[in-house]
Amino acid sequence: MTEQRYRFSSMTIGTCYYPEHWDESLWADDLRRMQEDGISVIRIGEFAWALFEPEEGVYSFDLFDRFLDLCEQTELKVIFGTVSATPPAWLTHKYPEVLNANMDGVLYRHGMRRHYNYNSPVYLEKCAAITLQLAQHFGKRPSIIGWQIDNELNCEMDRFYSEADSAAFRAFLKEKYGTLDALNAAWGTVFWSQTYTDWEQIFVPRPTLQNSPNPHLHLDYDRFVSESCIRFCGLQAEILRAHVNPGVFITTNGMFGRLDNHRMTRECLDVYTYDSYPNFAFGLNMAGRLDRLRDRWSSKKLTEVRSVCPHFGIMEQQSGAGSWTTRMENPTPRPGQMQLWALQSVAHGADFVSFFRWRTCTFGTEIYWHGLLNYDNRDNRRISELRSFAEKMKQLAPVCGADNEAAFAVVKDYDNVFDAGLDTWHGHVANQSEDAIFEVSQLTHTPFDFLYLQEDTAIEDLLRYKALIMPHACIMTKERADLLERYVRAGGVLVIGCRSAYKDIHGQCVMTPQPGLLQKLTATDIHDFTFTTPAEDVPFAVWDGRRMQTPLFNDVLTPLDGAKVLARYGSSYYAGEAALTENAVGEGRVLHLGSAFSTESARMILDYLGLTDPCASLISAPEDVELVVRRKDGRRWLFALNYQSTPMTVTLHSGMRSLFSGCVHEGEVTLPPYGVQVWEIAE
Ligand code: GAL
Repeated sequence: MTEQRYRFSSMTIGTCYYPEHWDESLWADDLRRMQEDGISVIRIGEFAWALFEPEEGVYSFDLFDRFLDLCEQTELKVIFGTVSATPPAWLTHKYPEVLNANMDGVLYRHGMRRHYNYNSPVYLEKCAAITLQLAQHFGKRPSIIGWQIDNELNCEMDRFYSEADSAAFRAFLKEKYGTLDALNAAWGTVFWSQTYTDWEQIFVPRPTLQNSPNPHLHLDYDRFVSESCIRFCGLQAEILRAHVNPGVFITTNGMFGRLDNHRMTRECLDVYTYDSYPNFAFGLNMAGRLDRLRDRWSSKKLTEVRSVCPHFGIMEQQSGAGSWTTRMENPTPRPGQMQLWALQSVAHGADFVSFFRWRTCTFGTEIYWHGLLNYDNRDNRRISELRSFAEKMKQLAPVCGADNEAAFAVVKDYDNVFDAGLDTWHGHVANQSEDAIFEVSQLTHTPFDFLYLQEDTAIEDLLRYKALIMPHACIMTKERADLLERYVRAGGVLVIGCRSAYKDIHGQCVMTPQPGLLQKLTATDIHDFTFTTPAEDVPFAVWDGRRMQTPLFNDVLTPLDGAKVLARYGSSYYAGEAALTENAVGEGRVLHLGSAFSTESARMILDYLGLTDPCASLISAPEDVELVVRRKDGRRWLFALNYQSTPMTVTLHSGMRSLFSGCVHEGEVTLPPYGVQVWEIAE
């Protein structure tokens, strides 16, 4: 894993501020109040293109100059946003080719944001020009500590169907395959006479009957979108790097799909930031989950962010109610919840937390996206909570830069992430398994990491973990299989699930027995398999007399020489056949589960491997409390987070000093509703 180039040197609190939204007479008072409340960094500028360039080639920086002058009379520092998320009306009107289109080719028009495409030569030129102007004009400002590129790349829309995208897709494919013969072979175009005889015949996906495009084309399209986004980000990063003060960081705020966030960070950014909105778990019609974990699902996203950048920042931390689509139909964070969510971010590795936004906007699309302050601008209970959080961040000073402990890692790679996007059954199986593993890890207080296999992944990155779960790597390459084998031979434990390694890098199915390139590790063969139909009961297997569900897909495993059967299916026509096997390889071992992971199988496997509840000797906590450990320089800190509206009691088995009160706690300790404690673990 590449070392991240920038780290926050102290626990830092920020907020998102839009000087252009407010009467200038409010600015000085806003900055004063921010500092009094513990804020030391503000992010500004990211949507203000129309102000910076009111007419093509005519620039105006006065408003932000006046604002930065004011900042520079204070201690406040600034993260400055580049403006490419919101091209002005003059630009999209004069050059409609900069706009993104839907699959039918209909352009997305001015009026929202991120309505552009990454590949229009005009847009690239215009973005480069405005970024250069901003970098030249503001780059040496002493208050600016960092730059944010665009805003939430690939948010709102992560599919691009403009003419410029088709042209760029062709160039991407020419570079990748060199010849049409190679492309036709990789995409299997002999099927249904899809053979291309001229590059001009190739387009980004277009409407097809039953919305069923060539799957190999689609896999390359996802890679192309990701690459386009990274190039777009890189273009701005390069300009900024040439002009800004040394030591100033370049970041962007994520994280969104159809994008190799790891590569983007490695190639373009010094540090990665994330926008955390756990309240989506509570609103109407939102993407959140209304099950037991609710806002704790955000910890899964934060775990994923940590894999991109272990010491990340939160560029936008939810501070109020809101949404665009449900307007006000999202509850206001309950007293304590805003602070809980901010500390959830810190527990998972954030050393910088910036709240979205200082004051709720009184006009525009976001009148219901509440910030710290309401429209009336008076102090309120969220401001009191901010102050309390600021006190806690001071007490958390020694934790800054600390790593997170993980009992195991869930292994992923972008080829399979993209494959699961198109191949919906793969997506369902992958989500089922990741969610089950996450849920069990939460309820058993067993934090894990995500580990993405990338081009710079080294064996040492794998050997940091006692066990790796790679749930459903349908696509497998020789390099990855070799890396996994080296890990296992050196003593690692590898766990894989159904449908592993049956596709090659193009998404074509291999003709070797499954699990393909992993067979020599698992010592299993698969002669029969089935998706399990909703019309049947959820299938199950029996392990040591205990039942575990084996949902969604069942590979019927045949153990080969050396493999031991741990569990056998107990249902369907393959009852009695192997459902879970174990094989010793070198110093390590490999478990092969024939199905998607259920909470039962994930729990039983983690227990079997002795991974659950690594802090059991220190603390007993109810399932509703999340436990996380960060460590640095031989010191360790235990976070306990109560997500419930009722108090929760934990039991400390030996004395530990609370970072917040300074007192040593032992025995029963009660966390108030939405309360958090952090103790230093005595070694
Ligand atoms: C984020 C976005 C912000 C603001 C916020 C609240 O996704 O980056 O600009 O829109 O949501 O809606």
